[in-house]
Amino acid sequence: MIDFVDERMNRSVPEFPRSPSQLLSLLETFAQSREHWLKVAGGAKGELLEHAFSLRKWEPFEVALECGTFVGYTAVRFATLMWRSCAKHSVARVMTVEVDPVHACIARHFLDLAGASRLVEVSIGQVRDVIPRIVEDFGVRTLGFVFMDYKGSIFHCDLESLELMNALSVNSIEVADNVALPGAPLLLWHLAFGPSWTLVVYAMMEFLEPNTEDWMALGRYKGHAGEAPPAPKSWQRLSWHTDHMRRRATGLRPTEGDMFEEDRVAYSRYVRRHFLDVGIVAMPWQGMVETDTDGG
Ligand SMILES: C[S@@+](CC[C@H](N)C(=O)[O-])C[C@H]1O[C@@H](n2cnc3c(N)ncnc32)[C@H](O)[C@@H]1O
Repeated sequence: MIDFVDERMNRSVPEFPRSPSQLLSLLETFAQSREHWLKVAGGAKGELLEHAFSLRKWEPFEVALECGTFVGYTAVRFATLMWRSCAKHSVARVMTVEVDPVHACIARHFLDLAGASRLVEVSIGQVRDVIPRIVEDFGVRTLGFVFMDYKGSIFHCDLESLELMNALSVNSIEVADNVALPGAPLLLWHLAFGPSWTLVVYAMMEFLEPNTEDWMALGRYKGHAGEAPPAPKSWQRLSWHTDHMRRRATGLRPTEGDMFEEDRVAYSRYVRRHFLDVGIVAMPWQGMVETDTDGG
């Protein structure tokens, strides 16, 4: 992948926003042409992220956080969105956290190629360990946007830490990926039934998997207003089981075999049934629409 991008990327001085869009298309082409699936938020998921980013007016001190960088695909997108919406500030306004140091180095290289390294800081570590540093570095109530795209069974714990540490601005946006596949039930419960959040859920097909439905959650923080009621036991079990599927998808359960498309389609349907049973429904993602920012 690095060779594929390096050979094709325009090596002259990176020029915003052309270099980031060139980099994004190269990574998308790589994912398509080599039949080498990349676990990035591309296609409809990328559109939804752009929509979510546009829902708020950014203050000069505010920061966007991505949890789970992988090779920096979405981090490059965020750099462009932040640059467009924030009068081109020259300091890092996007922080992205990655536990795998090799992924983090690839992401830094791609951000550099795109000319976006001054806008994005790639931090190496587990999200839960980096959270306190975010408050130390940027101050309280500075996170305007949080994108969670790593291990869905712990999203709710890390989001609660961000709330407890007062890291989130009022009206900040939380987007979570893979809510239905393999699933982030406890995060969805927290956003749906906690008094501090309003929630909209979108359904779309997984990037480059036209038959596999996934959901993304879009929450808006109202400020700390108390705790969500505890999630039912069946949802706790489901959350545990999503980790089992996550391990299987990465080849860590060889006796159970690989996950094929039909397994993924069926598992997504199984997870969604839990959500529908308590009245959580998703709107089909229809593409970008013009929205007013809330000024918040
Ligand atoms: C789905 S990929 C992220 C894709 C990226 N957000 C994008 O759209 O371009 C998930 C990444 O999260 C990382 N990860 C998993 N658990 C993590 C944790 N607890 N803290 C930080 N990163 C984690 C994985 O190593 C992997 O690179």
